[in-house]
Amino acid sequence: MFAVHLVSFLFTKLQEDPTKKVDRFLYAMRLHDDQLKDISARFQAEMKKGLSAESNAAAAVKMLPTHVRSTPDGTEKGQFVALDLGGSKFKVLQVKVREGMGIRRGGVEMEEKIYPIPKELLSGRGTELFDHVSESLKDFLHEKNISLEKKHPLAFTFSFPCEHSKLDQGLLVNWSKNYRVRGLQGKDVVKTLREAIDRTGGMNVEVLAMVNDTVATMMTCGFDDQYCDVGLIIGTGTNACYMEGLRNVDLVEGDEGRMCINTEWGGFGDDGALNDYITEFDREVDAASNNPGKQIFEKMVSGMYLGELVRLVVLKMAKRGKLFDGQVSDALRTTGKITTAHVAAMEQYKTGLNNTRDILTELDLNPSPDDCVAVQHISTIVSFRSSNLVAAGLAAILSRIKRNRNLRTLRITVGVDGTVYKTHPQYPKRLHKVVRRLLPECHVRFVLSDSGSSKGAALVTAVAQRLASLRQQVDETLCPFKLSQEQLQLVKARMRAGLEAGLKTKGSSAIKMLPSYVYRTPDGTEHGKYLALDLGGTNFRAMMVNFKRQNARLYHKIYTIPLEIMQGTGEELFDHIAQCVSDFLDYMGMKNAHLPAGFTFSFPCEQTAIDTGTLVSWTKGYKATDCEGHDVVSMLREAIKRRNVSQKFHKDVTEMSLDEVKNNATVPPICKQKTVCSYLQEFDLDIVAVVNDTVGTMMSCAYEDPQCEIGLIAGTGTNVCYMEEVKNIEKTKELIGKPDKEEQEEDKQDDRTEREKKEVDAELSKMCINTEWGGLGDDGSLDDIITPYDMEVNQNSINPGRQRFEKLTSGMYLGEIVRQVLLDLTRGGLLFRGHVTETLKTPGIFETKYLSQIESDRLALLQVRSILQQLGLKGTCDDSIIVKEVEDLTLCHTV
Ligand code: BG6
Ligand code: GLC
Ligand code: GLC
Repeated sequence: MFAVHLVSFLFTKLQEDPTKKVDRFLYAMRLHDDQLKDISARFQAEMKKGLSAESNAAAAVKMLPTHVRSTPDGTEKGQFVALDLGGSKFKVLQVKVREGMGIRRGGVEMEEKIYPIPKELLSGRGTELFDHVSESLKDFLHEKNISLEKKHPLAFTFSFPCEHSKLDQGLLVNWSKNYRVRGLQGKDVVKTLREAIDRTGGMNVEVLAMVNDTVATMMTCGFDDQYCDVGLIIGTGTNACYMEGLRNVDLVEGDEGRMCINTEWGGFGDDGALNDYITEFDREVDAASNNPGKQIFEKMVSGMYLGELVRLVVLKMAKRGKLFDGQVSDALRTTGKITTAHVAAMEQYKTGLNNTRDILTELDLNPSPDDCVAVQHISTIVSFRSSNLVAAGLAAILSRIKRNRNLRTLRITVGVDGTVYKTHPQYPKRLHKVVRRLLPECHVRFVLSDSGSSKGAALVTAVAQRLASLRQQVDETLCPFKLSQEQLQLVKARMRAGLEAGLKTKGSSAIKMLPSYVYRTPDGTEHGKYLALDLGGTNFRAMMVNFKRQNARLYHKIYTIPLEIMQGTGEELFDHIAQCVSDFLDYMGMKNAHLPAGFTFSFPCEQTAIDTGTLVSWTKGYKATDCEGHDVVSMLREAIKRRNVSQKFHKDVTEMSLDEVKNNATVPPICKQKTVCSYLQEFDLDIVAVVNDTVGTMMSCAYEDPQCEIGLIAGTGTNVCYMEEVKNIEKTKELIGKPDKEEQEEDKQDDRTEREKKEVDAELSKMCINTEWGGLGDDGSLDDIITPYDMEVNQNSINPGRQRFEKLTSGMYLGEIVRQVLLDLTRGGLLFRGHVTETLKTPGIFETKYLSQIESDRLALLQVRSILQQLGLKGTCDDSIIVKEVEDLTLCHTV
């Protein structure tokens, strides 16, 4: 027994292990991990090249944008016909997609028929090929009794590189694999198909989308798995697609959201990038192919070439006497005699060796058992190299996605299809293992798309159809916000007429045109310390301004005005302001300084002098009682006086109990709040001017730029003021020529020359007018551009019917307009899956700060989504796109 073992050991030693000699012969095809990492890095560089606008034209890996922007979300539905051209089989299908069930639960039903393509058509004229395609389609519709009464949306899987400018248009870049059809390169394939369908006639179909097989595969798998962001084909050809951040896709405008990129990785190496990995067998395969020098990576990897690579290796080894005792058959010399199906059979578990023997015998060879082991091993090395190369490419894509998303670990699904992956017994396992070894930090799931691409193509079409109808409805809703040039001209004319009417004494105007008694803008020589109070913007502000020749220093403090004070009594409001002023003077340590104070009061006031202003009516969020028709300067003075009076009671009050304070009739109301009284101190103000915020703005800017003659506010409210010729201001005619008393006194006293006096007169020839343009439209003149959403916002405001222009444009109302539109779109089922949440029903959720964030172009949709989420509005990516659009348009409307 021992002797037998010894002999057989010696015998095998002498004979040499047949796999070893193959290993030696094919050492260049056995890639270890360092080489794979190197290839992966090279592919990453190629992807970058293909994505960049500058290098795309010269890039071997074309990275074609597909215009597929989202993976399915399960809500797709509909019935489609589908064409699948470019794989090993040409198929026509009917696909029915039911909503919300997914593929595994039977959400997609399909019927298909394979139509052989006569070989001559693969190198014939484009029209002939497409006539065959459309005739097959007609035959299918007929055979399956698909009614021609209604139009059928058609999904087209076309497994060749196309440059898309939209989903239903794609220019063929070049043919690959076994196609070499004439007259189509650079032409729109969808158009070619439509024309062929028209030529065939008798069909009612509409080609809605054309997609690459990789994209269709990703979509098919994505219907059940939301992590599926990569599509991979290892079939007759090989290719991969993935979801890329649009900001990285130079060839498509916009930088928000994602887009599927068809890498066309088959072309990797066409520029020599893989030359050091290419063997003599690869060169031979390439030289004998339809497209020498092209699709180098594909030729090392895909089903159309694997069998041929094996044949060339076997032939060469046989010729060298390393196989079959040097015997070579004619069959072995013949191109295409070993196919990928043979390779798969030779590597079959258990039966592989027998299959190998049968295959070789079929080729008129007479293989020994060692020959069979060796040839099987050749197959293994060739197909292993293929899965290794695919793993390297895939690792590059996955690490790019991981980096794009700034993740430490990535969870992702890859949808896979293709005859090699589906039929080769070891291929999937090997591929998965190597990918996981190259990328230990990624959790990669591979999902086989076992029923072909057409489901995915139908889903793309369904998404396109859903988005098209959604878009139409959203567009219709938003249409009234899009103002044409003509409409803008009309608004301009009405504004102008309103401004002119407002200057007249007779007749009414919705625009008040209030004289401000500011005759000149500063010239930068002003100096001194002033106290400035600013009421009517988002907050109340107290400021100390120190003008020192072209240089103003500013200290300020901001106080919020609670809603109940804005809308309480006038006395409470002005007491509150007096209290803020007191606090500010304390803060500045200037309680006893008697400073001149300017009061910016951002509401319409009738003025007869610079230091008096009668409030015409509240606007924006204010409606404190007993103020309209009163001089606001006096009201502020009185509030200060009240504090000073109450000061007398301060001491007593702090010593009284709260009940005693409340019941004591001599204690002024302000002092009844013990806490308030506890920090009262005496102060006085010399209010020298009351101005509107527009006027204040113009004055501050004019201090820097003497040309400034207009002040514009686009804030909580909106308004404008400008320097008007006094002669045009009819309202103040009676006052013209007699400026205020002080000035007359000064005029009398000073001994200025006539010229100087003329100059002064010239200076007094203009006066700043506070237009109060927010009131445009209060007489109905904007009714034709006011949308139902604006009406709703107006009705819910505290001053219905007033400030119509302001309500179309200013910060206080924009958020509400957006909310009304979103509510309407949601009620119509176009947003948030039709779910109207309590949050969405809550007035004021969209503050202007959110709007400006959402509108910012650089902000990714994911952030829009997160803002919506913060607001309790959970939405999909599509929802975010629509929300952003609503906001863009409402703001655009404003401008
Ligand atoms: C199929 C698709 O499932 O996979 C084809 O329907 C695609 O369109 C194919 O081209 C790729 O595999 P193969 O092996 O048929 O080229
Ligand atoms: C070829 C085609 C490509 C396709 C792939 C798989 O590489 O160029 O578009 O995806 O084959 O079918
Ligand atoms: C409102 C006020 C106006 C102010 C504007 C901007 O329109 O009526 O006086 O200028 O808001 O704050």
